[in-house]
Amino acid sequence: MSSVEPVGADIGINHISKTFSVSATKALIKAVNDISLHISRGEFVTLLGPSGCGKTTTLRIIAGFETADSGEVLVDGKPISNMLPNKRDLGMVFQDYALFPHMSVFDNVAYGLKQRKVPKKDIKDRVAEVLKLVGLEGFGNRSPSQLSGGQQQRVALARAIVIKPRVLLFDEPLSNLDAKLRVIMRNELRKLQQRLGITAIYVTHDQGEAMSMSDRIVVMSQGMILQVGTPQEIYRYPKERFVAQFIGKVNLFPGKVTRIHENKAHITILGVEFEVPCTNEAFQESSDVLAVVRPESFRMFPEDKTELKGQIKDRVYLGSVVEYTVAIREKDVVVMQYDPSELHEVSDEVSLTVPTGNIHLMPAIQGE
Ligand SMILES: Nc1ncnc2c1ncn2[C@@H]1O[C@H](COP(=O)(O)OP(=O)(O)OP(=O)(O)O)[C@@H](O)[C@H]1O
Ligand SMILES: [Mg+2]
Repeated sequence: MSSVEPVGADIGINHISKTFSVSATKALIKAVNDISLHISRGEFVTLLGPSGCGKTTTLRIIAGFETADSGEVLVDGKPISNMLPNKRDLGMVFQDYALFPHMSVFDNVAYGLKQRKVPKKDIKDRVAEVLKLVGLEGFGNRSPSQLSGGQQQRVALARAIVIKPRVLLFDEPLSNLDAKLRVIMRNELRKLQQRLGITAIYVTHDQGEAMSMSDRIVVMSQGMILQVGTPQEIYRYPKERFVAQFIGKVNLFPGKVTRIHENKAHITILGVEFEVPCTNEAFQESSDVLAVVRPESFRMFPEDKTELKGQIKDRVYLGSVVEYTVAIREKDVVVMQYDPSELHEVSDEVSLTVPTGNIHLMPAIQGE
């Protein structure tokens, strides 16, 4: 394809900070606090974190709509901090699509090309090609108001990629769509990004979106990066309480390492001793730890089968999964069972097992 060849750029973010001052209250808000990150050519990286953690600000600094107080952004190793947004070779797709309502789909997509003084004939070809790519062939004459939400979102995407950007920045682009369409669009978007080889930085607070689309996820909180890793690393091996709790449901058991040798640590959880894999060099005998166990890691039995025993306090039937709260030694343990063929009842006595490979140890901060 001539107009949209693989063109991903390599992005470096070095020690970026941004503080806003709110003049009315004289308050200072540290929106971004010393963030560093490297994103490889063609990679899909998601910034994930709660509202107000600095995702949009980070994206806007990369795009050039906001200036960092300190630090710099590099594209293929070259600083771009002094470059105007329209010179940065970046396409941006926003939550509200920001389509021009009075312009046809064609003119919306052609806008960036006209600005760049691309010849008329080329504009026609490139817009047609990109509309085909996003599945909107033949929609050029419609106005945005004659399109569904998903179609409008595709126009926004077409408008961003028609200028052949080397990087695509997405700020919650799917949050206005219904749940089913979001899933369809996220898969399409990911496939398109891979096909074009464009580097993508994606902002969301939807963990499902982040998990399913990303090569790597960057978990942010209060303007800082807490952890960077593949979706599996972030889910299975969170480094701290916030990351563990922000992504999916989780059980956290405080404990002390009683013995450690050959990458195996002994720890007592709910009165039962486990020997769990542990490669964290910082851990030693008597280290305080938090054991992370995902609810789906447990298996549950109606009979008195294992040492880990308790009573069902609550049951939530969700169709594909049943979520139980099991009281064990006065602690509420969340257990998910994906085969609901045999339902357990509230107040049933049950026993649990958990494969030791599914127990992950994190350092406990004092007081945890
Ligand atoms: N122009 C501004 N002036 C003052 N404060 C701002 C400005 N822009 C952002 N902030 C503040 O900076 C912090 C980070 O905002 P940002 O928009 O980056 O968060 P976010 O992670 O994108 O959140 P959300 O998920 O709600 O979109 C917030 O506390 C916000 O109120
Ligand atoms: Mg935002």
